[in-house]
Amino acid sequence: MTTIRFIREEIDIKCKPGENLRDLVIKERLQLYGLKGILGNCGGAGQCSTCFVSVEGGSKNSLSPLTSVEEEKLKNRPENWRLACQTLIKSSAVILTKPQSPPSNLKELKEASDNKKLPK
Ligand code: FES
Repeated sequence: MTTIRFIREEIDIKCKPGENLRDLVIKERLQLYGLKGILGNCGGAGQCSTCFVSVEGGSKNSLSPLTSVEEEKLKNRPENWRLACQTLIKSSAVILTKPQSPPSNLKELKEASDNKKLPK
């Protein structure tokens, strides 16, 4: 088992390596989508670009490499952004859901996360 920390929601979730990040978020009933994605998303097919997350911690190899879909869809986005539906979990990582609308207390949430050891 490995752990994904969701800093917006302030929770750590255990999961199996190889699990899809979008599937994990949905299974845990966290909010992955902003309004556009709520109104219509592609269901994980890598077409709608509404399942953005940012990777805020973990090792360089915590997640699967960028897919060709992500390389295209994330061209003009920050380097640490991923499409959750294209991302497989390999080991523990820290994730921010909906980075396009960060919470006003993001700095504090990041500090709290940094101060808490990420389980392996
Ligand atoms: S759910 Fe549509 S791109 Fe990820």
